[in-house]
Amino acid sequence: MSIKTVYLETIGCQMNVLDSELVLGMLRADEYVPINKAEQADLVLINTCSVRQHAEEKAYAHLGSLRQAKQHRAGMIIGVIGCTAERDPERILERCPHVDLLCGPNELHKLPDLIAEVREHPNRRATALSGGRTRRTPPFNRADEHDDLEKLAMYRPAREGQSAVQAYVRVQRGCDKLCAFCVVPFTRGRERCRPALHIIDEVKRLADGGVRQVTLLGQTVNSYGCQEDGHRLGLADLLARAQDVSGIERIRFITSYPGDFDDEIFDAMRCMPKVCEYLHIPAQSGSNEVLRRMRRRYTAEAYLELIDRARDRVPGITLAGDFIVGFPGETDDDFAQTVEIVRRVEYKNIFCFKYSPRPGTAASRRFRDDVPEQIKRRRNVELLRVQEKISLRNNQRHVGQIVDVLVEGYSKAALKAQQRDARAGKAACGSPRGQWQKPEQLTGRSRGDQIVVFEGPACLVGQLVPIQITSATALTLHGRPAADL
Ligand code: SAH
Ligand code: F3S
Repeated sequence: MSIKTVYLETIGCQMNVLDSELVLGMLRADEYVPINKAEQADLVLINTCSVRQHAEEKAYAHLGSLRQAKQHRAGMIIGVIGCTAERDPERILERCPHVDLLCGPNELHKLPDLIAEVREHPNRRATALSGGRTRRTPPFNRADEHDDLEKLAMYRPAREGQSAVQAYVRVQRGCDKLCAFCVVPFTRGRERCRPALHIIDEVKRLADGGVRQVTLLGQTVNSYGCQEDGHRLGLADLLARAQDVSGIERIRFITSYPGDFDDEIFDAMRCMPKVCEYLHIPAQSGSNEVLRRMRRRYTAEAYLELIDRARDRVPGITLAGDFIVGFPGETDDDFAQTVEIVRRVEYKNIFCFKYSPRPGTAASRRFRDDVPEQIKRRRNVELLRVQEKISLRNNQRHVGQIVDVLVEGYSKAALKAQQRDARAGKAACGSPRGQWQKPEQLTGRSRGDQIVVFEGPACLVGQLVPIQITSATALTLHGRPAADL
């Protein structure tokens, strides 16, 4: 088999980051070598996101720029994979006739066959889409779909040194919540949970490959459930099993839905040393009226009660949240209640999005997108400003403390400097794992998910290192190793 090159661009959430990693693993087994220049690739894949219009436009802009590249490179195959391929295949082909293949997020295991089909028949288009089928599947996996997709995880590396320090592990696909604004249930389908055995097997293989932290991924990860030998297992059971995997130092899980939250999960965070005290728990709005129209199944009061319970049961827990501003009908008063919730909760950080109507969702069918763009923008800026002050205050509290940091790699600044040096023909840059070098600027995270930057030898990557915090900004803690290394 001849060596071929692949360029894969990922837009969107952690699910897509994981899908891209699995796709690359599968293509590597098919003799593809990843490169970082689209124009030089034999295969270009764009892994798309449909959650907001902006993300879709980003994909279209890139696809547009590939039209010329394809003319200059005979045999180049361009594929669109992920949520936009599933949601709107007609529009992709209309706007981008140079696209050769389309593959939805539930069909990614079929990619090698699709690529082979296009190679054999260059004038034909190859597609694999669920076409709404995923919305009709029963809540637990149909055996065949499940088994097919499971194959993807088999391509993950299991040899020491091949993996990054942290890895995502999927525990759930799809979502059953059907929030009025959200396209995810239409692109990824209904909620289906992977069997605990498969998940833990994957965690073990990742640990063997050198992974030190796993982040369990699900759209509503706290409602994870599967049957095993007649018993129902929940997220807390999964955390307990992951806790027993040797080599794994830290376990996180994202994203939690502010319902279905049993105390066992909090108990796991408090009692299991590897489970980090960090919760990403989107509120979306602080106004009950807006929450009702969003079809979120809780009130602001219930959300705050849950946060109090989390703080009570898990000392030192840090919280992250998502908010949407400018949802149809959102008044100044509704927005003020959102600001109030951000002030009350004192998150570590928040993600704030301007409402973007998504075709096919309940909100886009039932409500006019009536909050002007300018007001959405103003509310977005204001909410982020409120949070920035809180983040700075929270981070400054850590100055003088020693925090345990799992070192992930070079800091962004160090990577940039290395790239500059590489371009100038100086020392080669690459993975820092296992190399002893002069002190470099490294980065890692605390148990509470704060980013920590410090100077130290690159051999610390992958290790837990106590760092004395010396200064803080709203985004980052800076420090130095607390002990002689
Ligand atoms: N439970 C999922 C949610 C996926 S979408 C998870 O976080 O993994 C991620 C975030 O995008 C949501 O929490 C919401 O804040 C935002 N979002 C979803 N649909 C949106 C829309 N139509 N407009 C703006 N923001 C949206
Ligand atoms: Fe979307 Fe709501 Fe599920 S935000 S992913 S429908 S919990």
